[in-house]
Amino acid sequence: MQVIKTIDEMRQARKASKKSLGFVPTMGYLHEGHLSLVRKAKDDNKLVAVSIFVNPTQFGPKEDFKNYPRDTERDLAMLKPLTDYVFMPSDEEMYPASYDTWVDVKGVTDVLEGSARPGHFRGVSTVVLKLFNIVEPTRAYFGQKDAQQVAVINKMVKDLNMNLKVITCPTLREPDGLAMSSRNTYLTPEQRRASPVLYQALNLAKELASQGEWDAVAIRKEMTKLIQKENIADIEYISIADNETLKEIHRIKYPALVSMAVKFGRTRLIDNMVLDK
Ligand code: PAJ
Repeated sequence: MQVIKTIDEMRQARKASKKSLGFVPTMGYLHEGHLSLVRKAKDDNKLVAVSIFVNPTQFGPKEDFKNYPRDTERDLAMLKPLTDYVFMPSDEEMYPASYDTWVDVKGVTDVLEGSARPGHFRGVSTVVLKLFNIVEPTRAYFGQKDAQQVAVINKMVKDLNMNLKVITCPTLREPDGLAMSSRNTYLTPEQRRASPVLYQALNLAKELASQGEWDAVAIRKEMTKLIQKENIADIEYISIADNETLKEIHRIKYPALVSMAVKFGRTRLIDNMVLDK
């Protein structure tokens, strides 16, 4: 495994081989969810590259950029058996003082996380485009955990005719259903105990739809009731939307994306499930 800290070095490493390369962009503090993407990349390609870059431009001014958890040594140990290249550029090289160019995917970014976190997806699409240009992957791997991020990246790759394939991988969960996330470490024991209610609410939506409940408003109401049983859970949004456009739907039409953001104290958790036939 080669640990690469400059853009030039990453380019040289990529140019040295024409082999297929699977790329997994991350912000580090890795868990099994990240590793499942890396394993899939390893299965599908001759070479694997993982980037670790806590991207400042996707954090809002009141968000946790400075405090975002970091542990490079542990990350590198986890990646060693699975990865050929770990790319860890500096903030200064990715965003020099003269930096001026932004990728703004319209439409799909207006709703859900996009409206809750203004500017977030502009930062994500910009950094992912930069990383794609540097790493030149054959395939890039993203988690369904961040469903809207997948929609944004797919749209960018399509609209800009980018020469790679985007692969979406399933959400990995803790045994009690909590979706794995670097931010789970912020949860207090009491919040951690209550947090599986998100997954329970998603399963409730799936069950209601499969029993023939077509009214999205009625399903959202039942989900809200269930989550509110945990006093410390503060619902930001619950959405039932078209899985491609992410526009809210009133009647269930497959495939539908059920997604939510729920706060426990200052920690904001997101989760989702695709309802399909
Ligand atoms: P990060 O939150 O580190 O996540 C990196 C990748 O791991 C994303 O594609 C995310 O969806 C996936 N992932 C996270 N938790 C997962 C889980 N429980 N199961 C499966 N996959 C999971 O997402 C980002 O970083 C950044 O926005 C990035 C794309 C790197 C751009 O900065």
